[in-house]
Amino acid sequence: MSQHPKDDSYQPATPSDARSPCPVLNSLANHGRLPHDGRNITAPQLRSALGSIGLGADVSALLVWRAFTIHSDDSEFGPHGSIGGLRDASDVNAAGEPVLHLDKVGRPHAIEHDVSVTRQDRALGNPIALDTALYEQFIGFARQFGVKELGSYRKVRYAESQKANPVLKFGRREHYIACGELAVLWSLFSEGKGKGIPKKYLEALFGEERLPLEEGWRPRKWVKAYLPEAGALILAISRYAWPF
Ligand code: HEM
Repeated sequence: MSQHPKDDSYQPATPSDARSPCPVLNSLANHGRLPHDGRNITAPQLRSALGSIGLGADVSALLVWRAFTIHSDDSEFGPHGSIGGLRDASDVNAAGEPVLHLDKVGRPHAIEHDVSVTRQDRALGNPIALDTALYEQFIGFARQFGVKELGSYRKVRYAESQKANPVLKFGRREHYIACGELAVLWSLFSEGKGKGIPKKYLEALFGEERLPLEEGWRPRKWVKAYLPEAGALILAISRYAWPF
C-alpha cells in the first residue's frame, strides 16, 4: 500500500526544513511524500516515495541501500562498502529504526560530486542549493531534453568546471553517478523516445522543486523504470557526456 498522502499539495521548503542537492528528493519532501521537514525519513518511506514517481523496486532498493549505509569520510581505511553512505550510526528514530536526514544527502566524500547540472562545485560555491545562473543556462540549452541534450550538456558543464576549478575532482565514478542521475530523470519524466523531458517539467522540478503534475506529467504506472532501462540510458547519456 502506498504510504504517500493522497492530498498532493505542494508546500515549498521553509528555512528550517532540511533539504538536499537532489531536486527530486526535495520535490518529494515539498509534496509531503517524504516528511516535509526533510528529517527522520525511514527506508520504507523513501522506497514508497520513489515508487510513487514510477521508479522500479530494483533501482529504488539499490539507491535506498546505498543511502542508508553508514557514512565514512575515510575512503582508504573506512569500513568496507561505506563509500557513498549518507547516515551516521546515531541517525535512528524513537523506535530505533535507521533514518535519513536530507541535509546529510550532500555531505562530502559520499555521492555529491563536482560538475553538477545546477549546483556549483564545492571549491567554487554552494554545492547543495540551486545556482540560479547555472539553472538558467541549463534551461536555455534546449527546448526538449532528450538523451543527446542531457549528455551534451554534461559535457559543457565539464569544460566549464575544468576551466574554473583548479581542484576539480571528477573521475569515472563521478561521471557515471552524474549520468545515472540524468538517466533516471529521463526515465521518469520524459515523454518517450525521440521526445525527451519538456522544459516546463524541468522548470518545475529544478526551479520550484515541485513534481510537474500541473504541467500534465503523470508517473509511469504499469511499466516502472527498472535497472536494465536505467543501465542502457546511463550508457547512452555517457556517450554524449564522455569528457575524458
Ligand atoms: C535514494 C534516492 C536518491 C539519492 C540518495 C539521491 C542523491 C543525490 C545527490 C547526493 C545528488 C547531488 C549530486 C551532485 O553533486 O550534483 C543528486 C542529484 C541529482 N539527483 Fe538525486 N538522489 C536520489 C534519487 C533521485 C531520483 C529518483 C532522481 C530522478 C528521478 C534523481 C535525480 C537527480 C538529478 C537529476 C540530480 C542532479 C542535480 C544537478 O546536477 O543539478 N535523484 N541526487
